[in-house]
Amino acid sequence: MADIKIAPSVMTADFCYLGDCVKQMDRAGADWLHIDVMDGVFVPNMSFGAPMVRAMRKYSGMFFDVHLMMEHPEQYIEEFAEAGADLITVHYEAAGALHLDRLVSRIHAAGKKAGVAINPATSPEALEYILEDADLVLLMSVNPGFGGQKFIPKTVRKVAQVKRRIDEQGLAGRVEIEVDGGINFETAPKVIAAGASALVAGHAVVDAEDPAKAIRMLKGSRV
Ligand code: DX5
Ligand code: ZN
Repeated sequence: MADIKIAPSVMTADFCYLGDCVKQMDRAGADWLHIDVMDGVFVPNMSFGAPMVRAMRKYSGMFFDVHLMMEHPEQYIEEFAEAGADLITVHYEAAGALHLDRLVSRIHAAGKKAGVAINPATSPEALEYILEDADLVLLMSVNPGFGGQKFIPKTVRKVAQVKRRIDEQGLAGRVEIEVDGGINFETAPKVIAAGASALVAGHAVVDAEDPAKAIRMLKGSRV
């Protein structure tokens, strides 16, 4: 089984000490840092923009997995790329993702990996004609906008469905399946068994007594 990547989400961190959180996650052995950008339009919450990514970039060489929960991500691709994102994920449901093929090409043209996210009620069928161009599919296992929510169980079925499509299209090992929201020691084994290769973990890791131990436990999770 390919190594499972753990991507702590800084959403649940104390934003006044974000640099410390970034360094702490790096020391704890996180594979990626999941950075949730929220515009208050696509989701009913706001976080920060590219300047904060630029600020965090100075604190770590970790892979920055930037999740754009924005209605118009097409206006900011190059800005997040220059700020230090390594992977830029846009939502299929965003108004600005109407031309998703072009948007994914733009992320690649900016020299970054491209992810496509779908919300809990969106069918993976929506990914049929973008899967081969994306580097990652982000499956939301909560309704986006907040950390610390409860995992939505039907996501497990969706992970398996996307894994099947990836295998059928000969994309295994090329396209990551990342699951985002409500990941903990109980839900992680289920999504890993279904085919997830990357797990976002906000509350379960960033708020853990021992983030390094939490990361090791999530990685070791096998059903
Ligand atoms: C929700 C965000 C998630 C969230 C994960 O909109 O995309 O990344 O921060 O936090 P937990 O792991 O606590 O659900
Ligand atoms: Zn996220």
